[in-house]
Amino acid sequence: MTEPTADPELFDKIVNLSKRRGIVFQSAEIYGGFRSTYDYGPIGVLLLRNVKDQWWKSMVQMRHDVVGLDAAILSPPQVWEASGHLANFSDPLVDCTNCNARHRLDKLDDPNVCPTCGSSGTFTEPRAFNLMFKTHAGPVEGAGAEVYLRPETAQGMFVDFMNVLNTSRKKPPFGIAQIGKSFRNEITPGNFVFRTREFEQMEMEYFVPPGDSAHWYEYWKNERHQWYLDLGMPEDMIRLREHDDDELSHYSSGTADVEYLFPWGWDELEGIANRGDYDLNQHKEHSGERIEYFDQQANERWIPHVIEPAAGATRTAFAFLLAAYDEEVVNDDTRTVLRLDPRLAPYKVAVLPLSKKDTLTPTALEVFDQLKTRWMCDYDETQAIGRRYRRQDEIGTPFCVTVDFDTLEDRAVTVRDRDSMGQDRVSLDQLDGYLAERLP
Ligand code: GAP
Repeated sequence: MTEPTADPELFDKIVNLSKRRGIVFQSAEIYGGFRSTYDYGPIGVLLLRNVKDQWWKSMVQMRHDVVGLDAAILSPPQVWEASGHLANFSDPLVDCTNCNARHRLDKLDDPNVCPTCGSSGTFTEPRAFNLMFKTHAGPVEGAGAEVYLRPETAQGMFVDFMNVLNTSRKKPPFGIAQIGKSFRNEITPGNFVFRTREFEQMEMEYFVPPGDSAHWYEYWKNERHQWYLDLGMPEDMIRLREHDDDELSHYSSGTADVEYLFPWGWDELEGIANRGDYDLNQHKEHSGERIEYFDQQANERWIPHVIEPAAGATRTAFAFLLAAYDEEVVNDDTRTVLRLDPRLAPYKVAVLPLSKKDTLTPTALEVFDQLKTRWMCDYDETQAIGRRYRRQDEIGTPFCVTVDFDTLEDRAVTVRDRDSMGQDRVSLDQLDGYLAERLP
């Protein structure tokens, strides 16, 4: 098998498509944009939601051993003191005394050379820059009112561990899953939505008997790798990479990344970490609460160990966009098509009256009403039909249903397949069945 290569040109194509088709917009664009924050437009919000839904389905709905949680974003300093984030969640920053540029020391090719001006030996001593956003709660500013925006969703699962254990009737091995926003004051955000200061995570903490953590670590690495493949990521564009010891986070005794071949090279999509009993132990010590599991059978109390698959929802949606992007020449014209798995496609079906003539609109809306309860449908009656097909191809809609003048006579529509562009004539009373065979 030949090694796949990164495609740097794809980056601009996706950024342009995102803007043109309402997938992702620069945030606060009318005010010149707010660096490194993005808004998901009408198409992007559906894609992102589908990515999260697929994750939730595989991690919670399809499992008897995982329950969900939606914890608060704001939290008191005690949580982050216990977790180690106040002390350790920082990047080493250096300033160039020649050109005043600021860099992350750990990201430099040569730690002595400034990539901005090229001068050597001009860096200041590294300073630790904490990545957490701090604000204050209530009308009084000061130490007692300090709160933090969570930099990971994970701590919610640890802080609520006993509440979930006592109310869910689960016992180890079992997991708590959460999807939600996290915030990091990244020094070097960039690469579009890859690294932003506000982003969404999909994390699950899987609590296991201490002796079983190696087994579950292997299990979750494989499960999570397979999830991306099942949703259509090409096998040669995705890999698992075990961290070297010097890459490990302060809490981890083993971490593997699921990596995707982004336009700039291999980079992280998700980390699967063996966090041991670090977090529960820390919260037990700092809160003074009894945080442990009572194993009735063995008549023993122990602190579960934790395996954590931690993915980024926004980053994953971006990777699926990149993986789905395709161009092909059709009749001397280049067709852009997003070959998204139908489960991820923003719209499953587009209903298109052939012409804008009033005579077709009521029937086309009838078809839209027939399909809308089951599938997310688009309705579009502007422009020539060819241009409307191309628009749907560009946003990855698997099927276009065209209502034409014959429909008024034969109660049948033309169904066009996104990938093959093949067309079938299907009667309206068989349309649901036809689509159900081909759509999730
Ligand atoms: N609880 C562990 C944890 O948060 P992480 O590797 O720092 O681990 C997990 O984050 C995932 O969250 C990453 O693999 C990535 O997909 C996503 N992520 C982290 N920082 C991000 C950022 N600044 N912008 C977008 N996604 C980010």
